[in-house]
Amino acid sequence: MGRSMGDGMARVLIIGSGGIGRRHLRGYAATGRARLSIVEPHEGRRQEAEAMFPIEESHADLATVDLKAFDLAVICAPANLHVPLITACAAARLPFMVEKPLAVTMDGVDAAIAAVEAAGILARVGYIRRIAPEILALREKIAAGLIGDLRLVYVNSSQDFPKYRPDFQRTYYARPEMGGGAILDAASHTFDMLVWLMGRPVAVASMYDRLVLEGTDTEDTCLVSIRFASGAMANVTINQFQKPNVAEASFIGTKGNLTLAHSVLSHWDDDSGRPRETRDYMDGLVPTEAHQARFTLEANAMLDALDGRPCSLATLSEARESLRIALGAKASWDNRIIVSL
Ligand SMILES: NC(=O)c1ccc[n+]([C@@H]2O[C@H](COP(=O)([O-])OP(=O)(O)OC[C@H]3O[C@@H](n4cnc5c(N)ncnc54)[C@H](O)[C@@H]3O)[C@@H](O)[C@H]2O)c1
Repeated sequence: MGRSMGDGMARVLIIGSGGIGRRHLRGYAATGRARLSIVEPHEGRRQEAEAMFPIEESHADLATVDLKAFDLAVICAPANLHVPLITACAAARLPFMVEKPLAVTMDGVDAAIAAVEAAGILARVGYIRRIAPEILALREKIAAGLIGDLRLVYVNSSQDFPKYRPDFQRTYYARPEMGGGAILDAASHTFDMLVWLMGRPVAVASMYDRLVLEGTDTEDTCLVSIRFASGAMANVTINQFQKPNVAEASFIGTKGNLTLAHSVLSHWDDDSGRPRETRDYMDGLVPTEAHQARFTLEANAMLDALDGRPCSLATLSEARESLRIALGAKASWDNRIIVSL
């Protein structure tokens, strides 16, 4: 294995050097704990990554890679390829982090999870909010009982997506079968956060559509309601065309509320209109730099997990739950039913 080669650095294989692959290349490079290699079938993108990062090995095809020479894979290909790539890592007993969502259908998901369990390897899913300081603080405050029992959550996460991803019509985002659209691509982050905070989902109802964005076959808007085994409920609203960038969530408990507005976490326990406590977890940071810094945090979390330290990133089984919510949301509107999960 890489680290037995003597320098203590982990040999990390980034599979797919597109948008998110490059964020991970930058993040792992910034840890100072990793030696980087890539697999990227697109020649131009592969050459760009080779020019941008200190890359040891660069491959066009996973089939030419000696997976056993690596300590960790980071799967950054489109989500319709996640199941076969997870299966390849399991066969080589190579620990990995796979980007979200876990997959785009349930086909092969349970067999892939079983193969990973049989291989006994570390495996996590890249729902980046799980290492975000404001979400960790939120989770701790809820677990400590600050708002009593959490019974209801409202989330509105909406933005002018084409501004942030100008190539959206040419990426997986435009194609439902590759994991694009508001539900699988965007809302799945929120579904994972809700599974983490609220436990097992039992039912989902939704409406979704492409209301504005042109040049895609995917929905740019979804309204999703979820019920959990505890009886608590959540409502998730997303549009990907409005001009203001809104990321607001209310976590409503029997003794008070916690609200998140981007990175500002506030605690409210009366009707004075003023929070009892409020804190911006990105205060003083430039938002774009703070966002990239989270990929370094995530890389360190995976490298720590390889060293046997606890890791808050989503397990495959947890990501399976958020995938079931996403697929249930699609089935709900397609069939005009409430879907039991
Ligand atoms: N965690 C986050 O915040 C976040 C953000 C964006 C995207 N993502 C996820 O990351 C994944 C990729 O998204 P992206 O925006 O980087 O897409 P992208 O299209 O920019 O990049 C995907 C890359 O994978 C490459 N690829 C295709 N087949 C491959 C294969 N067999 N082996 C290796 N590489 C292959 C493509 O050539 C492309 O360069 C998706 O699952 C997406 O949902 C996560």
